[in-house]
Amino acid sequence: MNRVSGWTPAGYPARRHLHRLPRRRGGQADAPAVPPLGEDAAGVGYTILGGPARSGRDVVLAEGEQSTMAVRVGFCGTGGIATAHMANLLRIPDAEVVALYDIDPSRCQAAVERVNLQARLAARPDGPAPRLLEPTVYTEYEQMLREARLDALYITIPPFAHGQGELEIRAAEAGIALMVEKPVALSLDVARRVAEVIDRSGIISAVGYQTRYSEATDRAREALGSRTIVLVLGYYLGGMPQTPWWRVQAQSGGQLVEQATHTVDLMRYLAGEITSVYCLEATRVLGDVPNFDIADVATTAMRFKSGAIGNITNTCALAGVSPSYSHGVQVYTRDLIVEVWDRRMKLIEPGRTQEIVTPQAPIFLADQAFIEAVKTHDQSKIRCSYAAGVRTLAVTLAALESARSGMPVALD
Ligand SMILES: NC(=O)c1ccc[n+]([C@@H]2O[C@H](COP(=O)([O-])OP(=O)(O)OC[C@H]3O[C@@H](n4cnc5c(N)ncnc54)[C@H](O)[C@@H]3O)[C@@H](O)[C@H]2O)c1
Repeated sequence: MNRVSGWTPAGYPARRHLHRLPRRRGGQADAPAVPPLGEDAAGVGYTILGGPARSGRDVVLAEGEQSTMAVRVGFCGTGGIATAHMANLLRIPDAEVVALYDIDPSRCQAAVERVNLQARLAARPDGPAPRLLEPTVYTEYEQMLREARLDALYITIPPFAHGQGELEIRAAEAGIALMVEKPVALSLDVARRVAEVIDRSGIISAVGYQTRYSEATDRAREALGSRTIVLVLGYYLGGMPQTPWWRVQAQSGGQLVEQATHTVDLMRYLAGEITSVYCLEATRVLGDVPNFDIADVATTAMRFKSGAIGNITNTCALAGVSPSYSHGVQVYTRDLIVEVWDRRMKLIEPGRTQEIVTPQAPIFLADQAFIEAVKTHDQSKIRCSYAAGVRTLAVTLAALESARSGMPVALD
């Protein structure tokens, strides 16, 4: 185990550990099992009521009960998106980032330096000292799970690195709440197996589809109400992200599975389940980029359970623009068009157009909701559970299958 120099003193300060009774399906806390007795590293006895064995000293809270302790958060994978979450967590007093693990430990150090530099630069010169990250860096995942006494873990690794879901399964079995970045895996079998373990373990789970938390999305859903949806158009148009694994089919799953999955998820959130897809894709201009073997353009027709028709079109082929140059969802009803993208929403009605920009970044709202859900052990605060993320994955993988077979694919 490495420690980021100068931050975490050797040995943990004595600390109580947040621990929740497992939820019963239907939301009730299970009756405590026979309590096993244990002893933590500092030799203080602890009692675990129900749930899997944990290494920390535990405080048992019933569902909905508040704790005054900060939620102890770890990270598995400390690249680009992890630093965005870490910066958010510094702004959430109820969260404390206590542990980092990355297959490349230098990335942990780099993430801490980047986030702390940002925090220092954002602090007012005459204001209070900024809150900084002071995590312990682990070079072994298992050791982090055993020793860091985590309440919650962010799994922020590239899609291929989910492998057989072992990282998620071990954390869930240890009773640690999970925030897994999208896409949750590259195989539906793996994702379903992880979903089962999460369900059985009763932990809080979330997936990084942050657009669900946007206030713009709330307004769009309100405006749509129970209107009959006719058409749902999604689009994710831009340039190619530079992360090296992104352009490799076996590592990212391609643009629709890895990136435009945000759009598919929002389409589902606004318009309901998708029951069949028919996808056409091509590689038109990026075929000469080293290692590039994904499609650079695709369009997927969809049928929704409601009977509505949809389409998502994505390209990463555009030169000189950001990967998310233009993206969003438009929902068409007889007398209202709703358009949502990130913090923005537009309502178009006969004779009236309204546009709003909401103040909070959806990813911050998503992190806030996750910490709150862990703290109160209330899954209802989460807008995209792991299981819901699996459903979005199923739609994008079905589109891939359709592109390969040339046939429409029905979803179960
Ligand atoms: N929600 C969003 O808006 C959003 C935005 C960007 C990325 N993402 C998702 O986040 C995930 C990570 O993307 P990124 O851009 O941060 O990638 P990245 O390449 O910048 O970082 C990934 C990190 O994971 C580490 N890693 C790889 N395999 C690992 C393993 N087995 N165990 C531990 N660490 C491992 C790498 O060393 C690297 O530091 C992807 O699934 C991506 O789709 C989500």
